[in-house]
Amino acid sequence: MTLIELIAHSSERLESAGVCCAQGTTHAFDEAAWLVLWRLGLPLDSLDEHAERAVAPADLQAAHDLVTQRIASRRPAAYLTGEAWLQGVPFFVDERVIIPRSLIAEPLAEGVLDAWLPDEPKTVLDLCTGGASLAVLAALAWPEARVLATDLSADALAVARLNVERHGLAERITLAQGDGLTAAPGRFDLILCNPPYVNAASMAALPPEFRAEPALALDGGADGMVFVRGLLAEAGHHLNAGGVLVLEIGHERKHFDAAFPGLPVVGLPTSAGDEQVLLLEAAQLK
Ligand SMILES: C[S@@+](CC[C@H](N)C(=O)[O-])C[C@H]1O[C@@H](n2cnc3c(N)ncnc32)[C@H](O)[C@@H]1O
Repeated sequence: MTLIELIAHSSERLESAGVCCAQGTTHAFDEAAWLVLWRLGLPLDSLDEHAERAVAPADLQAAHDLVTQRIASRRPAAYLTGEAWLQGVPFFVDERVIIPRSLIAEPLAEGVLDAWLPDEPKTVLDLCTGGASLAVLAALAWPEARVLATDLSADALAVARLNVERHGLAERITLAQGDGLTAAPGRFDLILCNPPYVNAASMAALPPEFRAEPALALDGGADGMVFVRGLLAEAGHHLNAGGVLVLEIGHERKHFDAAFPGLPVVGLPTSAGDEQVLLLEAAQLK
């Protein structure tokens, strides 16, 4: 069997088992390619190069077993491989944190945020940092910036520390534990926040892959807006003049608009449309 045949077969197995592919991939073929390439010790971007190569029997068995594990456990691929990629940057991941996939990474890495800022940001807050993926991407995007990355979860911060060290950014990224903005005194040029925002009805219907992630990272209360309400009440006092808050709300735009009627926001374009990541200017938040 060739590598491409193995991946196609694995993809069919994942699909017919009904696994959910939404935490780093968007469909079964990509999920199968990720698992198989990783198990065979091949770079994840090397499929084209190796597609027609014959797979040795021991490797076939190893890949088959990993796909079986994915199906039987319904644990997301990133928890099985211990790694996730965002905007081409690798992050260590385990069950202590949500798997990095924030849409905020797109406008951040593509330079879209620069157009909204008077200057390159010198101070950035990554509020609800999880494994620090957005903090790391911000530090890489703006080499002069100092980043404060905060989270309520000590477990998440332990993973964040591994990622900050992995990317050699401990000089510029500070980690702090605490509830919301209480852990982030002072003002910032830019606040990034991918908070828990899943509403109660959606939480009750989550597929097993999402239930494998920490509930604290997802659960946004009845309308998904519990954390966001507290944030918007205070954010204006934590932004410098000309600063902006970039907030992910996922599929909760209806709940956001109901909770904050008339609040001027800009929907930033992402691969999932322009309703899921919102930009709010300091002047509008005061
Ligand atoms: C959706 S995850 C985002 C993680 C990371 N920023 C990312 O995009 O992958 C939300 C994070 O918020 C944290 N969190 C939940 N409630 C919090 C609170 N009251 N204060 C600070 N962090 C909180 C969770 O521990 C989790 O790491």
